[in-house]
Amino acid sequence: MDFKEQILEGIPTELPALKPYPSNANRAPKRKDILSIEEKQLAIRNALRYFPKQWHEELAKEFAQELKTYGRIYMHRFKPTYKMYARPIDEYPAKCKQAAAIMLMINNNLDNTVAQHPEELITYGGNGAVFQNWAQYLLTMQYLSMMTDEQTLHMYSGHPMGLFPSSKNAPRVVVTNGMMIPNYSTPNDWEKFNALGVTQYGQMTAGSFMYIGPQGIVHGTTITVMNAFRKILTEGESPAGKIFLTAGLGGMSGAQPKAGNIAGCITICAEVNPKAATKRFEQGWVDVLIDNIDSLVLRVKEAKEKNEVVSIAFIGNIVDVWERFDVEDIFIHLGSDQTSLHIPWTGGYYPVGISYEESNRLISEDPEAFKEKVQASLRRHAAAINKHNSKGTYFFDYGNAFLLEASRAGADIMAENKIDFKYASYVQDILGPMCFDYGFGPFRWVCTSGNPADLDKTDQIAMDVLEKMIAQSPKEIQLQMQDNIIWIKDAKKNKLVVGSQARILYADAEGRFKIADAFNKAVAAGEIGAIVIGRDHHDVSGTDSPYRETSNIYDGSKFTADMAIHNVIGDSFRGATWVSIHNGGGVGWGEVINGGFGMFLDGTEAAAERLKSMIFYDVNNGIARRSWARNEEALFAIKREMERTPSLKVTLPNLVDDNILKNLF
Ligand SMILES: NC(=O)c1ccc[n+]([C@@H]2O[C@H](COP(=O)([O-])OP(=O)(O)OC[C@H]3O[C@@H](n4cnc5c(N)ncnc54)[C@H](O)[C@@H]3O)[C@@H](O)[C@H]2O)c1
Repeated sequence: MDFKEQILEGIPTELPALKPYPSNANRAPKRKDILSIEEKQLAIRNALRYFPKQWHEELAKEFAQELKTYGRIYMHRFKPTYKMYARPIDEYPAKCKQAAAIMLMINNNLDNTVAQHPEELITYGGNGAVFQNWAQYLLTMQYLSMMTDEQTLHMYSGHPMGLFPSSKNAPRVVVTNGMMIPNYSTPNDWEKFNALGVTQYGQMTAGSFMYIGPQGIVHGTTITVMNAFRKILTEGESPAGKIFLTAGLGGMSGAQPKAGNIAGCITICAEVNPKAATKRFEQGWVDVLIDNIDSLVLRVKEAKEKNEVVSIAFIGNIVDVWERFDVEDIFIHLGSDQTSLHIPWTGGYYPVGISYEESNRLISEDPEAFKEKVQASLRRHAAAINKHNSKGTYFFDYGNAFLLEASRAGADIMAENKIDFKYASYVQDILGPMCFDYGFGPFRWVCTSGNPADLDKTDQIAMDVLEKMIAQSPKEIQLQMQDNIIWIKDAKKNKLVVGSQARILYADAEGRFKIADAFNKAVAAGEIGAIVIGRDHHDVSGTDSPYRETSNIYDGSKFTADMAIHNVIGDSFRGATWVSIHNGGGVGWGEVINGGFGMFLDGTEAAAERLKSMIFYDVNNGIARRSWARNEEALFAIKREMERTPSLKVTLPNLVDDNILKNLF
């Protein structure tokens, strides 16, 4: 059967043969054995719901074995045999093009060259799933192939509940991932209910079919590093020859040296795992590889002297670097950390003083001793950073829970008020006030023709739009506009595409609309094929996350999730082609609610109308909330938007004089 026939068939009519896992596959870790015997029976009963009765006896044994071996039932036998990648849109069997575009995006998220653990349907982040099992994939693709533009597919954590009648203006797909009753939202609840087959961790763009490879993280990191330098340098001063010290060359952290090079500084990135460091070096994401601290010191002194722009990977522990640079009196301008401290006890953070191999032994043989070593290391790590900070280093937390875990370990990391940390997070200091509060966020698009020439044309269109806009932009957002013009000019040269022909660009409400509108017109004129637009969930309005996206909200509302919920509802009736809302993503299950959308631009008037209405709300919802929280930059942005758009009326806060509050209690 060819690709189209397999899609149309859905669950095969004949039981496919059992197949081995490919020997070179990057497999997901074995999950926790958390279910009781009764619950395991329930998990099998749940899994068998997808298949005819005559297969149950055989499949029951197989699924029980999968559950035992992997901690989950992936139904690997049902993984299709065709090559998984974002095919040109016309190759998808579909009655409506919107549905075909969604199929393309799903295939991209499961592409072997894009996905982290493709056999387990995991796109990124270790557990960011597109589906829980292959039956869900097969059924979803079949539903999409048969749907009309007056039906909507409702998906519960990867499970396609079915096609429901709707209308042309309704979303074609509504996705929820991991939505739980709040009291059942701890990490162990995820383990249990995911093993039962009733929920999944959709991360951000994994479960919403909007992942576009490492390009997204490179751009976000570049924006952060560039703006961090702006905070500490005088106007016109160049980052060349100035040091950015950080750790981690893994999945997302591996973008740091590339971002440092684009920002134009000296990046030193420590990585304990030689394989991870060598991989990034071989990929060309870091310029120099050094495994000896004396050589590192010499090379860094040379780079400083020559005012170089260079990225250096140091194979070793980050704590050693912070401490040695203190002894050598090497001034660090910018410091951060991207070790995986959101999972500190299972290999996310390697303690100083013991080898990488010894750490791995302790993790499995003596987890308590390992935990003590991690905490002692974090105390030393923080103490070394504090020493540099007293000399003038600017340190920021990069959303990896460094400050949180260091504080739990008893490190000297709390501010004088004993509530806040000594250092701010990248959203509090940088992305929040400089980008999100003005509406700038990770807008992205995918060329559904799969033709690289289309991507070149869209880059050019986006650049033309931004260059026209910058002439009219107020001084408050000139830098953001400039950064993105430079980014889009160099995007092709930086070779960022992995998987679908996609591009990311930070833009505000006006920029996102104008760029997308110009795309739609180019599609209508036959200059390019149809375009999908969307964004990362890590954005202005889509995500409520008190320690990350909304960490710069100071009116107490950062622990609420109203904004994210309004966003998904608001986008869905304003014309999004698909919408999604997730629990978890980035910082963990129960710690964040995040949502996103996808929109198909086919060059029609109807698409232009939907675009105008939805993009406007998708960005300004968050600015309104941020301005109500008294964020100065958001107040500026929403007032400007109200002048531009007379039908927008937002409640503005009255600011209270501190003196009035002083002696009240
Ligand atoms: N907020 C954001 O936008 C953002 C962006 C990127 C990453 N992050 C966070 O950063 C963290 C890293 O993400 P990732 O995908 O790169 O994870 P990862 O696990 O793939 O990479 C982390 C790397 O750190 C290395 N490491 C651990 N301890 C070390 C030590 N003491 N010294 C030197 N190296 C050490 C590990 O070997 C690993 O390769 C995560 O917590 C993630 O959530 C946040």
